[in-house]
Amino acid sequence: MLVLGIETSCDETAAALVEWSAFAPHATLTGSVSAPGDSAGRVWNTRSNVVASQVDIHREWGGVVPELASRQHVRDICGVVERALADGGAGWNDVDAIAVTQGPGLVGSLLVGVAFAKAAAWALDRPLVGVNHLAGHIESIWLEHGSIALPAVVLVVSGGHTSLYLVQREGEYTLLGRTRDDAAGEAYDKVAKLLGLGYPGGPIIDRLAREGNDVAIRWPGTRLTNPDRNAPERDGRFDFSFSGLKTAVLRHVRHRQAELGVEQLPQNEIVDLAASFQRRVVETLIDRTFAAARWHGAQSIGIAGGVSANSRLRKEALAKSGRSEIPVYIPDIKLSTDNAAMIAAAGLRQLAAGRLATADLNAAASLQL
Ligand code: KG4
Ligand code: ZN
Repeated sequence: MLVLGIETSCDETAAALVEWSAFAPHATLTGSVSAPGDSAGRVWNTRSNVVASQVDIHREWGGVVPELASRQHVRDICGVVERALADGGAGWNDVDAIAVTQGPGLVGSLLVGVAFAKAAAWALDRPLVGVNHLAGHIESIWLEHGSIALPAVVLVVSGGHTSLYLVQREGEYTLLGRTRDDAAGEAYDKVAKLLGLGYPGGPIIDRLAREGNDVAIRWPGTRLTNPDRNAPERDGRFDFSFSGLKTAVLRHVRHRQAELGVEQLPQNEIVDLAASFQRRVVETLIDRTFAAARWHGAQSIGIAGGVSANSRLRKEALAKSGRSEIPVYIPDIKLSTDNAAMIAAAGLRQLAAGRLATADLNAAASLQL
């Protein structure tokens, strides 16, 4: 089963070919097979994974401009899909099904992928599946690592989302907690913008933080104990909040700018701020994820989404994994940030479950998982 995945939810036009083979010998003459697979013994194989980033276009504006993003998706989508087919050594007729991100995301961006995927599925007469972008991030863990011990707690942490899910069975996700305001990646991007560092802020702060003192500034942390007013049925203890931290950084920066009478803070202050900000964010993400894992008796932890590319988060999660004897799985960086291989993987799950889209599939900006 060869699936073409298409992802256009934000500022990356992406296409990928992922294969799910029914043949997965558990042992060969030389030993066991290391290829990733799921518990049904099927092997996932990424044949191609093409991403055209628009970051150079949006950098000039300090963030993603939705109208520019959708126009660029229109320009790039055909070439990106053709490249994914060529890289994967496949032609259109080899594609067995098409999986496309339906939401959440920027509606104008999503529409480009959805319209393209519908047209291709119709022309090829192949099944189509509409994928939730967050399911894609979650499945990037299985795509990279194969079957992991269940139940698992998965943290999806990106520019738009910071959510914890319980996975009791492969392909089924229960929301345990989420941010009540900003996503962690959004906090990174806003702090970087405030410091005049450029866009996207995550990788820049990650790099600068390595040169700074991470205890230079003590930032407030937020632990929520009350239920979310917008979702009172859910226990709120595994929720996140990053807007208070963002405001504290804003106040600190404004105060120092006034004190020094400068626009741009000196480099030594910037690196200390980056290091201590990053420490606070990473501590919060790790504490809450491990607490949720303990509470739900998880056998493993997964961390996915753009912010899982963060060097401190990766290092500390793996160190804590060793101390607490719970395995932690994080996909490779090219599967952490937005890509279409993860969408194809989540699409394969839906195909296996028979959840197909119909011709009236539409983009959904705030699709829930
Ligand atoms: O998953 P993603 O590519 O797109 C969304 O679905 O949002 O995540 C993008 C986010 C951005 O906020 C970016 O600043 C952040 O991931 N990011 C990082 C790092 N690399 C990307 N944040 C912290 N450290 C990084 N190394
Ligand atoms: Zn994403």
